Formats: sequence, structure tokens, C-alpha cells
Amino acid sequence: MAAPFATRVIAWQRTHGRHALPWQNTDEAYRIWLSEIMLQQTQVAAVIPYFERFVSAFPNVHALAQAPVENVLAHWAGLGYYARARNLHAAAKMLVREFGGTFPNDAEKIATLPGIGRSTANAIAAFAYGARMPILDGNVKRVLARHAGVEGFPGVRAVEEKLWTEATQRVPAKGSHADMRSYTQGMMDLGAQVCKRSAPLCMLCPVNADCNARATQRVDEIPASRPTKVLPHKTKWVVALLDAENVMVERRPDQGIWGGLLSLPEFDSEADAKAWLKANVPTAKWVAGTPIEHAFTHYRLTLHPLRVSLRKTREVPALTAIPRATLATQGLPAPIKKYLQKIS
Ligand code: ADE
Repeated sequence: MAAPFATRVIAWQRTHGRHALPWQNTDEAYRIWLSEIMLQQTQVAAVIPYFERFVSAFPNVHALAQAPVENVLAHWAGLGYYARARNLHAAAKMLVREFGGTFPNDAEKIATLPGIGRSTANAIAAFAYGARMPILDGNVKRVLARHAGVEGFPGVRAVEEKLWTEATQRVPAKGSHADMRSYTQGMMDLGAQVCKRSAPLCMLCPVNADCNARATQRVDEIPASRPTKVLPHKTKWVVALLDAENVMVERRPDQGIWGGLLSLPEFDSEADAKAWLKANVPTAKWVAGTPIEHAFTHYRLTLHPLRVSLRKTREVPALTAIPRATLATQGLPAPIKKYLQKIS
């Protein structure tokens, strides 16, 4: 009879898991929280430099709560899913206002903060306080679906509920804070490094002896993939007004894509873009640039840039001139920044 599931995961994590990530080896809930939010939709390797810069700029909850939201967004620019940054900022204010600036130590209270769902709240409680709470992020869903033989797409509510039950049953019944930390990290590490979506490394898995999908040769079928649907496609036009030093940008509304970031003025049609140019920059001559392609979770976007070279910066209502030399550090959406850097 194999040792309990959690015992095997903990032992495996200690010898084979990740131990040197910048948000590990700390009980500081602030760093743990920030990392979990960044890691929700972004890979570890991409998160690390953002995480380091973010904690230098905002070293604790108080610093984050006091910072202007534009500053927070600028440190987030390029990571995507900007609602995460706005929620983070709102949560920091709430932590200061309602919890004296310290993280509550129970997962249910943590889950009342903006941007923190059940799995993230449980991960923070487990890492920071050793709470015996299960986690269920995308990687962990795959580990559990295979180990327990849960069929169906994990994004479906009923399947997810089954996985929560499996996750809850596997949490170690007793043990130290360090055990809970190793177990929680171990589930993430197993999903990321061993129980991979394609070509999983089952020979290296500490829980292969009683893995249902392996025993029934269904590792390739479980978990079921997302039912396919064709993403809708949107087309917009953007205007890049440039002089030798500056580019003209506007702040996007808080709601919607790239909310609150600086970007190029955007239009629904080529006619709208040209009419706006005629009204605001009557002498403008435009050149059509290579279309900018970007894929969001829910749709694909093609932006057609119209580039206008100005002899010198001029006043245009609602636009601000920013120096082209500072593009790298401005809070601009990544595809827009890339385009502007390419033409600079
Ligand atoms: N993904 C989510 N949380 C993580 C963590 N703590 N370490 C590595 N990957 C993660």
C-alpha cells in the first residue's frame, strides 16, 4: 500500500519541486498574494521580472494602497488582464481600511477581497498561514482529473465541483505549516513539470501508482479539452500622431480591454479615423501601417494603424504627447508598444 497521496506529494516537492522562486521562502502574505495574482494568467518565467519590479516599487500593502492607480497599471503593462491590477489596488485599499493593512488569516475573509477567488484565497492561506485548504488552479485540475479519473471539461461547473471534492479529500489531515506549503507548491509543481498537458512524465510522478487515468490508459483523454468555438474577430483603426520626439496618446476608459492604459486613439472604421483626423489635424497626411494582430481570450483583434508624421507637436483635444524615448516604461498595451517601438 502506497503512502497517503499528500505524503508522497510533499516528499516529491522537497526533492524535485521548485524552491527558489522570488515569492517562496517567505510567510509574507503580501508577496504571496501578489505572485498568485500575477500567476493567474501568466507563466512563471514571464512573471518573475514583473514581480521583482513591482515589489521594489510597492514593497508592502500600504505602499500599494497609497500609489496612484496609473502608477500601478504602468508596472503591470505587458502582463495583460489589467483588471487584475485594478483589483489588486482596490484590495490593497480595502486591506488598509478594513484589516489595518494586514492580511486576514482565514481563507473565507481573504476571498472577500477584489480579484481573489476560492483557489487563490486558499493558496494564500496555505502558503502564508499553513491553512489546510485545497487549491484548484488550471494545473492542479489536470493532476486531479487524471489521478481521480474525472471526465469532462474542467471549465464546466459540475466537473469543477467534482474536482473540488477530490482536492479537498487529498489535503493532508495533519502536519506543519511547512508541510502545507510543500503540499500546495507540490500540486502546482506536479501540474507544471510532470503532469503536463501533452506528453506527461508519468514515470517521474510520485502518485502514478494509483493514478486512474494511467491505469485505464486515458492520460491523453483526461482532462477533456475545451469544446472548440471559433473566436469572433474585431477590426479597429488607430491613429499614430508622431513628431521627431513625441507620440500622441489617450487614456483608455477603465472598463473594457486595456482599461486605464495609455494607447493610440482608436476608431471603429477607417472613415471614422479619417474624419477625426480631418477635424483635428486638418493638414495630416497618413500612411497605412502593417496591421497589428492580437488575441484575447474572447476574441481576436486586428488594429489598422494610420501613421501621421507631424513637423512639431500640436494640441489635439483629449490627447497627450509622450516622449518616444520613454516608450519602454510607459503603461501602454504590449502590442501598441511593440508597434510604436518598431516605427521609432
Ligand atoms: N502558479 C500559481 N501559483 C504558483 C506558485 N506559487 N508557484 C509556481 N507557479 C504558480
